[in-house]
Amino acid sequence: MLRQAMLALSKSRRAERLVTTSPLTAGVVERYVAGDVAAVVRDLTRGGLLVTVAHLGEEVAGESRAEEAVRGYLALLDLLPTGADVSVKLTALGLRLSQQLALGHAAEICAAAASRGMTVTLDAEEHDTVPGLHAVHAALRREHPDVGVVVQAYLPDSLDRCEKLGGARVRLCKGAYTAPGAYKRPIDIDRSFVRCLKVLMAGTAYPMVATHDPRLLRIASTLAVLEGRDQSGYELQMLYGVRPGEQARQAQLGARMRVYVPYGDEWYPYLVRRLAERPANLAFFLRSLVSR
Ligand code: FDA
Repeated sequence: MLRQAMLALSKSRRAERLVTTSPLTAGVVERYVAGDVAAVVRDLTRGGLLVTVAHLGEEVAGESRAEEAVRGYLALLDLLPTGADVSVKLTALGLRLSQQLALGHAAEICAAAASRGMTVTLDAEEHDTVPGLHAVHAALRREHPDVGVVVQAYLPDSLDRCEKLGGARVRLCKGAYTAPGAYKRPIDIDRSFVRCLKVLMAGTAYPMVATHDPRLLRIASTLAVLEGRDQSGYELQMLYGVRPGEQARQAQLGARMRVYVPYGDEWYPYLVRRLAERPANLAFFLRSLVSR
C-alpha cells in the first residue's frame, strides 16, 4: 500500500514542486544523487569501484527534449573514465513518441561511448515500455554487441527474457515500478530473481546482479562458483548511497562491484522510487512536505 502510494507520489507534479523547493530534502538528495558527478566518479573509482552513470530524466513529451537528453549524455561521456558505463532510460530518448526515434538516439550514444572505451546499459522502466526496450536492445546489439539491458524479476516473463539474452550483458534487478500481473510478494520476487540468476549464470550472458539484498548476493556468488565463473565472469551492482560500506567491502574482496550513479536536476521521481523501497528514509521526505 505504502509503496503504491509512494509510486503515485513520484508522478505528482504538485508534490514534486513542494519537495524540490524545500531545503529540508537536500540531505536526502545528496545521499542518493551525485552533485558533482566527475568528483563522485573519481572517488568511487579510486576506491576500486566501477561505475554506471545515469543522467536523470524521465519520459519526454517532445522530440526537442529527447535531443536535449542525447546532448546531456554526450556531454557526460566527456567527464567519465575509460571503462565506465552509462545507464540510459529510453523514454527520455523518446521511446513513447517513436521506437525508431529512441533507437536512433540510443545508437548515437552507443557509438560515442564505444569510441571512448565505454559501454551503455538500457534501464527497464514501466511495463508498457518493456517490449520496446527489448526490441531496441536487439536492434542495437547488431552494431554494439556489448550494449546491456535490464530484466526486472517481478515480471513473470523475466525468466523467458533471460533465456533469450544469451551472450548479452544483462542487469538483473527486482523491479522498481508496478505492473499488472507482476509478482508482488517479496518471496515471489526473490524466487523469480533466483530462477533468472540460475539461467544467466549457467548460460553465455554476462550477469550484472543489481541488488542490495544480502541473501541474493550470497546466492549469486554461490551460483557463480557452481557454474565455474570466476569474479571476472559477472558483476555486482548497487545504487549510489545505498550500502556504501558493503560496496567497498565487495570491491576489496575482488568482486567487480559497479555503482549506479545518478546525477542531474530531474532527481525527484528517482528519489521517490528509492524512498518507496526504504521507508526508513521517509521521515525526511514527509517533513519537507509538511513544513511548507
Ligand atoms: P530490497 O529493497 O527488497 O531490499 C532487500 C534487502 O536489502 C533489505 O531487506 C536489506 O537487507 C537490504 N537493503 C536494501 N536497501 C538497504 C539500505 N539502504 N541499507 C541497508 N540495507 C539495505 N529497477 C528497475 O525497475 N529498472 C532498472 O533499470 C533498475 N536499475 C537498477 C540498477 C541498479 C544498479 C540497482 C541496484 C537497482 C536498479 N533498479 C532498477 C531498482 C531495483 O529494481 C530495486 O527496486 C532496488 O534495487 C531495491 O531492491 P533490492 O534488490 O536492493 O532489495
